Amino acid sequence: MERLTRGEPIGAGMQKRVFVAAENPKKVIAESRDGKDLTQEQIKATYYLNKISHLLFPKNIPAVSQAFNDVNKSYLQMDRAQPDEAHVKANKYIAGIGEHGEFWETNQYLMENEKDPEIKQFVKTAKEKGIFMDIGSGQNFARDPEGNLLYLDISPAWEYIEGKIFYWFDDVLLKQTIEALPEADKSKALNYFERLLALKPKDYNVN
Ligand SMILES: Nc1ncnc2c1ncn2[C@@H]1O[C@H](COP(=O)(O)OP(=O)(O)O)[C@@H](O)[C@H]1O
Ligand SMILES: [Mg+2]
Repeated sequence: MERLTRGEPIGAGMQKRVFVAAENPKKVIAESRDGKDLTQEQIKATYYLNKISHLLFPKNIPAVSQAFNDVNKSYLQMDRAQPDEAHVKANKYIAGIGEHGEFWETNQYLMENEKDPEIKQFVKTAKEKGIFMDIGSGQNFARDPEGNLLYLDISPAWEYIEGKIFYWFDDVLLKQTIEALPEADKSKALNYFERLLALKPKDYNVN
């Protein structure tokens, strides 16, 4: 599959910087920040976890098409969503690529997102299904032109923090969710799930 390259920057958080793909404006590339690169297992597992979350929430979570490590950075390539104007503006400000003077506007936007009942409900539903989401101080959510909630952050399948492992999914809940899917989705999701589990580190089981 073709590997796309970085074009115009559109956002950045604590973990990644995000660019429109130079060759295809319908795709984005997320590049890990310095020191935030993932292991080979993490990047593959992140890909499979996102495949599952996209199957569960096709309108809310953009599909990932590639995930790979290159020199010191990790890359994820995914469909470009169409976040609303307020989200785009706030994210440009956060990433340092916007105009000056939008601090209060950005703050207001983030605070509203943090309180948004639809966002809270979505995070809760996803958690019950076995997928954990990062509300990211309100930064990770947006709405598309049809009014669908967008979750614009691919969390790694797990993270290592001070010698401990933190999973962004729950095996048992996710398996139950997948078992309840209609047949076609179920077989796809089970395939991703088995690959995801096979990548889980054997020497860690704390959460
Ligand atoms: N698929 C996407 N389509 C459009 N914009 C995106 C997409 N993914 C991320 N972004 C933008 O980039 C920002 C930062 O990306 P994110 O993955 O949240 O980085 P981090 O993990 O560092 O928080 C998002 O808040 C969003 O504005
Ligand atoms: Mg984010």
